[in-house]
Amino acid sequence: MKKKLKRFSLKNKTAVVTGGNGFFGKQICESLILNGCNVISLDIKIENKLSKKSYSQYLCDITKEKEVYEINKKIIKKFKKIDILVNNAALDFKPRKNSKSEFFDKFDLKKWNDEILVGLTGSFLCSKYFIKSMIKNKKGIILNIASDLSIIAPDQRIYSHLKSHKPVSYSVIKHGIVGLTKYLAATYANKNIRVNSISPGGIEQKNLNKEFKKKLKNLIPLNRMAKNGEYVETIQFLCSDASSYITGQNIVLDGGRSII
Ligand SMILES: NC(=O)c1ccc[n+]([C@@H]2O[C@H](COP(=O)([O-])OP(=O)(O)OC[C@H]3O[C@@H](n4cnc5c(N)ncnc54)[C@H](O)[C@@H]3O)[C@@H](O)[C@H]2O)c1
Repeated sequence: MKKKLKRFSLKNKTAVVTGGNGFFGKQICESLILNGCNVISLDIKIENKLSKKSYSQYLCDITKEKEVYEINKKIIKKFKKIDILVNNAALDFKPRKNSKSEFFDKFDLKKWNDEILVGLTGSFLCSKYFIKSMIKNKKGIILNIASDLSIIAPDQRIYSHLKSHKPVSYSVIKHGIVGLTKYLAATYANKNIRVNSISPGGIEQKNLNKEFKKKLKNLIPLNRMAKNGEYVETIQFLCSDASSYITGQNIVLDGGRSII
């Protein structure tokens, strides 16, 4: 049994986490560090949120191919290899009042392009460069952060009192991330690179609109949003050898929302 638990260990592993400075990114970094991983966060902002020895952060705009290319070279020079990539960064929509510009027939092309650029193009570019070290070492793990909206459509009624909508870009990006997951998993299985995604439901946060939270909870069989840190073990599992026979899957963590 002890031997089995060892399979969760990320000792001597190096992980790159995009958007590691954000709300969920920080939790991902902490989850990996807890299991002994050396973690590198790439973000467009740097804040000293985690002062751990095994944590470094670099400024990198993942939508710029040259920046991703350069940072890959820099990381390989310093850390020698990349074992794990977590594609997490996004331009994320939080429900706002009277945000009619989120309505489909008013949705701005620039906003569409900007969001796709981070959520999809950024994940493509990071996978393209950081997978090189995994191919070389014939081992690696990519974990893509999707959302419960990768498998269901948003229920716009939960935003109606805010006179807002969940934007179309979010659905398209999250469905696309699942496509990228399957594509990479099938293409690189022969290089022993496993690629999965997780589809988490919303995490409870203090500043969320009360009416929105109430409506959302009503759609979830467990009748609550996810608690802070509730995804830690799943991330550790999917980024470790404990999940060695799982690839190309989209693991849904949504309190049951998608089953009804
Ligand atoms: N928070 C939730 O409840 C929740 C639920 C389901 C899925 N998710 C997913 O988790 C991921 C993170 O969400 P979050 O809530 O932490 O959002 P967030 O806005 O707090 O974090 C996103 C991070 O990405 C960074 N980023 C943006 N553009 C970038 C770029 N061009 N290059 C590098 N970094 C960039 C931001 O600076 C930020 O630190 C997203 O993919 C989101 O869809 C979040």
